[in-house]
Amino acid sequence: MKITYVTLFKNLIDYYFHDSILKIAKEKELFEIDYKNPRDYTTDKHNRVDDYKQGGGAGMVMTPQPLFDLLGEIKEKNPQAKIIFPVPAGKPFRQNDSVRLAKQEHLVFVSGRYEGIDERVIETYADEVFSIGDYVLTGGELPSLVMSDAILRNIEGVLGNNESLEEESFNTDLLEAPSFAKPYDFRSILSVSENLKGNHANIRSQNLKMAQLKTKYFRPDLV
Ligand code: ADE
Repeated sequence: MKITYVTLFKNLIDYYFHDSILKIAKEKELFEIDYKNPRDYTTDKHNRVDDYKQGGGAGMVMTPQPLFDLLGEIKEKNPQAKIIFPVPAGKPFRQNDSVRLAKQEHLVFVSGRYEGIDERVIETYADEVFSIGDYVLTGGELPSLVMSDAILRNIEGVLGNNESLEEESFNTDLLEAPSFAKPYDFRSILSVSENLKGNHANIRSQNLKMAQLKTKYFRPDLV
């Protein structure tokens, strides 16, 4: 898997891969990443990549020319590349999208800044348009990272232990049951008794009950 980040602010993304699980997975070459900056593609004599909104209104919009040239180049080199736009008005990004997209060879995340991206770029190049939630962020970099993280952990070897993927929230219609580390009694706050007894059938049925209760409480819309 290769991920290309189209962004004006590469550092916002790059540091995420400097630590922890994704750093190790990247070193093992389970995936690779690269960056493209729209500013390197602008033909504007002042190197601008944004302009006033047509029809007026507050804020600037990313202009079509640099992104058309940049994304056109990517598509010419690899017509199979899947181009993804994170925008607040997109389709909600879900776990099944992360599982599906983990099977792709090349993903391209296009991060908007300012008031967004000229809609003609999205209309022409988007394979997918996603929102990560009903709130507005200052740009597409965090949503690109959120989706990348959710996608990459589905690639074999990334988590180191594939079992962790099996009983997760959202892989079924239930949220994941709560987890407890040792000790059983921590400052008089008790964890769950069946977990101590090694009876796997009991543990499974207790986990199922806890998962059902948790789902009903936090996400009644899933029940
Ligand atoms: N860009 C800004 N806010 C966003 C959101 N909530 N989801 C995806 N992209 C965004």
